[in-house]
Amino acid sequence: MKIGVIGAGVMGSGIAQTFAMQEGYEVILCDISAEYAENGKKKIAASLSKLVQKGKMEQSAMDGVLSRIDTGLIETVGACDLVLEATLEKMELKQSVFSKLQEICKKDCVFATNTSSLSITEMSRGLDRPIVGMHFFNPAPVMKLVEVIAGLQTPESLCDRIMEIASSIGKTPVRVKEAAGFIVNRILITMINEAVGVYADGVATAEEIDTAMKLGANHPMGPLELGDLVGLDVCLAIMEVLQNETGDPKYRPHPLLKKMVRGNLLGRKTGRGFFEY
Ligand code: CAA
Repeated sequence: MKIGVIGAGVMGSGIAQTFAMQEGYEVILCDISAEYAENGKKKIAASLSKLVQKGKMEQSAMDGVLSRIDTGLIETVGACDLVLEATLEKMELKQSVFSKLQEICKKDCVFATNTSSLSITEMSRGLDRPIVGMHFFNPAPVMKLVEVIAGLQTPESLCDRIMEIASSIGKTPVRVKEAAGFIVNRILITMINEAVGVYADGVATAEEIDTAMKLGANHPMGPLELGDLVGLDVCLAIMEVLQNETGDPKYRPHPLLKKMVRGNLLGRKTGRGFFEY
């Protein structure tokens, strides 16, 4: 099966790696320039090299995974059976990607989005086919969950197909009806936002907050470290969707979260968030 992944950032390259680790899938990883797409593949090679160094993967298996990943521009996905969009969390951008894909792709190519909270119903407006949400979690090759999201016009049969594909790459899919933040982000990002508040109130240091949640709630990562991993800009965008969609003040993004995003302190990707990298 041929998979097109649009967007070679952290999630796009993680998703491309996840598919390519399974024999039977060939992936084309795309971005707005050939160089960005190639950088995505370099990230995958670096991540696989770590597995080889740790003795968790044979060099030949790594070569096999990389041989199943091609890179290119969006125009190269014409023969794909499934195209997964993993671009920035901007509705207009995603809509323009899908209208372009409609011209490039086969009529029976499935359109899926990795959006972390935007409306799939709105995204698919005016297209000749439905979109389905196929939401992976960071780091995509490791995290077991895939949320399979149905918009208002997404047929059940399409969700069934995505559930099967997710299972075939070793994931556990969970069916979700479209709602702001779906399941995980409505709960998880709200928790991260609360941790920002605890920090801003001076209740404890960032290290202490994270240690408390790791040891007191058995979370694998503290909420502030996790915010840095997800990207504080992504956390803010999700809080804004939750607030705008529901109008509920409990989803107010913390002012410190906004300030950090304005200051480009986005977490790991910019080298500094609540911690330095
Ligand atoms: N490819 C394949 N395998 C990988 C890998 C990669 N890129 N990176 C790591 N692994 C494997 C490792 O080899 C290791 O395997 P074993 O268990 O067999 O030894 C395993 O994954 C764990 O890796 P590490 O030992 O390096 O690291 P760790 O044990 O400290 O775990 C972690 C790291 C998995 C990230 C863990 O800290 C964790 O689960 N954190 C929480 C992550 C989380 O909550 N993510 C969701 C964010 S929200 C989101 O993504 C949604 C959104 O829309 C914003």
